[in-house]
Amino acid sequence: MDHFEYRDGVLYAEDVNLVDLAETVGTPFYCYSTATLRHHYGVLHNACAKAGLNDTLICYSVKANSNIGVIATLARLGAGADIVSLGELQRAMAAGIVPEKIVFSGVGKTDDEMAAGLEAGIRQFNVESLAELDQLAAVANRLGKTAQVALRVNPDVDAGTHEKISTGKAENKFGIAWEDAEAAYAHAAGLAGLEPCAIDIHIGSQITDLGPFRTAFEKTADLLARLRAKDLTITRLDLGGGLGVPYQRNNETPPDPLAYARLIAENFADSGCQIILEPGRLIAANAGILVTRVIRTKQGQAKNFMIVDAAMTELVRPTLYGAHHDIGLVRQRDEKLLAWDVVGPVCESGDFLGLARELPELDPGALLAVFSAGAYGAVLGSSYNTRPAAPEVLVDGATHDVVRRRPSYADMLAGEKIPDWLNSQDGQ
Ligand code: LLP
Repeated sequence: MDHFEYRDGVLYAEDVNLVDLAETVGTPFYCYSTATLRHHYGVLHNACAKAGLNDTLICYSVKANSNIGVIATLARLGAGADIVSLGELQRAMAAGIVPEKIVFSGVGKTDDEMAAGLEAGIRQFNVESLAELDQLAAVANRLGKTAQVALRVNPDVDAGTHEKISTGKAENKFGIAWEDAEAAYAHAAGLAGLEPCAIDIHIGSQITDLGPFRTAFEKTADLLARLRAKDLTITRLDLGGGLGVPYQRNNETPPDPLAYARLIAENFADSGCQIILEPGRLIAANAGILVTRVIRTKQGQAKNFMIVDAAMTELVRPTLYGAHHDIGLVRQRDEKLLAWDVVGPVCESGDFLGLARELPELDPGALLAVFSAGAYGAVLGSSYNTRPAAPEVLVDGATHDVVRRRPSYADMLAGEKIPDWLNSQDGQ
């Protein structure tokens, strides 16, 4: 469910008219709805409560949409954060998430990142290899700190999702092999500076069937019993993110968060463990749209092209994953529909937002909305072709705020220079 709706033929974000907003901020831009963010957080939170999970921490996976306005909105609801870099740690803290609610994931944490997490006092490190355990212990000992540790174990489950976002199979780079898990915990328990107190799994993203979760949770419950039999004190289970969302607004039934929470409860309600969840897409995807303007249309011999001012530089998911995003008119009109490839101005044939979309022929300046773009949209943007990052606008009721401004060209060139030797006498 989201709060992007047509009123008298014009698309609104909550109570903000998107035609007016496009005039004010210019296109392309991202627009996020506070009400939708809150709603999605609330649905998961309430599902957990209803399923009888009374100690749950929802650590929003900041990578999905790391705008500090978005993170702050969730922080105010009580969310923690799942982070994967020093930059994300700084964002999460700048947005008001307390360190005790931050979990640090990722296969490539550096010494500096580990030290920053320890200094801040984050809740836990999700560690992915024996070498990383040793490295974290060394950093913790140097700083005189103790790191709370979850081992990310790889349950070797096929999440049935796109190969680029599947993470829980043996061939993926993530996690410690299932067979090696017990030995890894024993290794961690023997290292000064570490307190192995949690199990972590994350099997993939955009998972639309609960089956793979069921298998992974059952395996995790079994591992928990085996670790406890060896006198390890496990007090938390981090079950990752990955719950899928509908990308075709009228035509898809997403997995039900309550059924997901009940599945967790079935396996772990009696475990005495805190349950940590790391949802990203579930919270942010349908809370955001990308608004773009038609530059011109071009009817080719084989296809019709609608050339718009947003591109793969703003939303790479269609070309990177073959992902579908609904595309609709901001101002509805009742005219004959044709099939259009909606493409951007970037010099790549893969630069498209949607292929063969049924739309009327539009005049230059007409506005389109690309839906479900709140997760893995702006964060995956690039400045290829020296295109300034699209601004991000957060709406709350009838008000809006530009929570990331569009950089000027001067901003974009500010970090670069012509090398000294080309400026010197000799170089001329
Ligand atoms: N936890 C970990 C350890 C993760 O790696 C991820 C996502 C999440 C949580 C959040 O997963 P979610 O709830 O959002 O599914 N760029 C891709 C998605 C990459 C997901 C990476 N990891 C896309 O646009 O589909």
